[in-house]
Amino acid sequence: MSEPRPERDTVLHSWCVQDHWNAPTVVGGEGAHFFTADGRSILDFSSQSECSNLGHQHPAVVAAIREQAGRLCYIANAWGAEPRARLAEALLEKSGFEGGRVYFTLGGADANEHAVKFARQAARKPRGLVVTRADRSYHGASYATMALSGDTRTREMADPAQFGVVHAPPPYAYRCAANRAADDANGAAAGCDGRCATGCVAHVEAVIARHGAAQVAGVLMETDSGTNGIVAPDAYWPALREVTRRHGVLLIADEVMSGFGRCGEWFAWQRHGEAGRPDIMTLAKGLTGAHIPLGAVVVSREVAAALEHEMLFTGLTYCGHPLACAAGLAAVDAYEREDLIVRSRRLGAAMLDALRTMQQRHPVIGDVRGGHGLFAVLELVRDRETREPIAQWPALAPSLAALVKAGLDAGVSFAVRGNLVLLAPPLVIGERDLADALTLLDRLLDDVDRAAGHAPPASRSAAP
Ligand SMILES: Cc1ncc(COP(=O)(O)O)c(C=O)c1O
Repeated sequence: MSEPRPERDTVLHSWCVQDHWNAPTVVGGEGAHFFTADGRSILDFSSQSECSNLGHQHPAVVAAIREQAGRLCYIANAWGAEPRARLAEALLEKSGFEGGRVYFTLGGADANEHAVKFARQAARKPRGLVVTRADRSYHGASYATMALSGDTRTREMADPAQFGVVHAPPPYAYRCAANRAADDANGAAAGCDGRCATGCVAHVEAVIARHGAAQVAGVLMETDSGTNGIVAPDAYWPALREVTRRHGVLLIADEVMSGFGRCGEWFAWQRHGEAGRPDIMTLAKGLTGAHIPLGAVVVSREVAAALEHEMLFTGLTYCGHPLACAAGLAAVDAYEREDLIVRSRRLGAAMLDALRTMQQRHPVIGDVRGGHGLFAVLELVRDRETREPIAQWPALAPSLAALVKAGLDAGVSFAVRGNLVLLAPPLVIGERDLADALTLLDRLLDDVDRAAGHAPPASRSAAP
């Protein structure tokens, strides 16, 4: 076979203008680092798409895939498969969904589509409406999940009404209409999480009331984090649970990104205890630490019981693929044996402290949010009083494009979007690496300050 042409000439790449794509080839990885073909080692400060929670090439996951590949690569869902049964058991145990069941998918988007399908079927509302966030939410890039999402990238491509989706505002405390009105009245600059939570949940309730609870099958929301940079105020999720329960509407937690330690718990809703337990949750990303594609829908005992004697009108050729389930099982084991959920909580708190210290010195940092685990967001503004963003969403601020380039030149890969920096390193990141990357970020933010018209800070010591 002849030498292949460069990838940019033959592959369609996600979320980019095709003729702008010109990324280096990655040939290996270990822990929180990956290695490029031209010999560079790069610290991964975003876990790729917030999915490589176990770092790259986790030895136990790689060994489990090898071992399973030697025994049985594939058997259809019509037959049983040992790793599938064991992984379902492990997920039900970790989530406390006793008596529940698991449906395996290939990733996050199809997990969300199936969650909606199961909710409608279990609620006996085959065309029931689903309430999601109007803005700054992301549930996938298939047509149905584009309609479920409130994402500027895909808003024009799928009509929510066609998919039975109705929207409510996101709990975006920093820019929440409920907060701004109250802040302006008080002359206070700080956001009020409680007001935002109450106001946004009241909107969900109003949407349910407007359509009538009998027409609404479910409410689907990201529990905690998201690539749109929203971290819901603490009071939001339990309040949402209370409202959905009161109206007999199923609550679906999209834990695709927030699950598996990213937000300091196995699943982010667990931070609220039983008061946060959804009826259905969707998983992907950290489920195998991204070693093999796999998603899952976990349903409660009640939802499982409602489906028990019903034909399930669905099927995926690769549903519960043994190789993927073996990887998932090894991943769950690794999170547990290495105490990575607790580690994420501890390092996330240290990262949050460091970011708050940075905020004191960098006028461009308007808001710091997250930090329940190793996920945090910096929102960058020209002016803290007016909260004018350094770029109009969703346009990427040129100073952040420059920050990414400078970070890579220094050996660290940072994720940015619009006027946000998204920090989500693998949970296995070394404490020295974490501290060094934050020190680097602190230094790189000097240029972002300057570009926004601020003087650079006088001193720094941000490392946790
Ligand atoms: C919260 C959330 N839900 C769903 C998805 C879609 O997952 P996938 O890309 O595996 O389809 C993503 C992906 O970024 C996500 O962050």
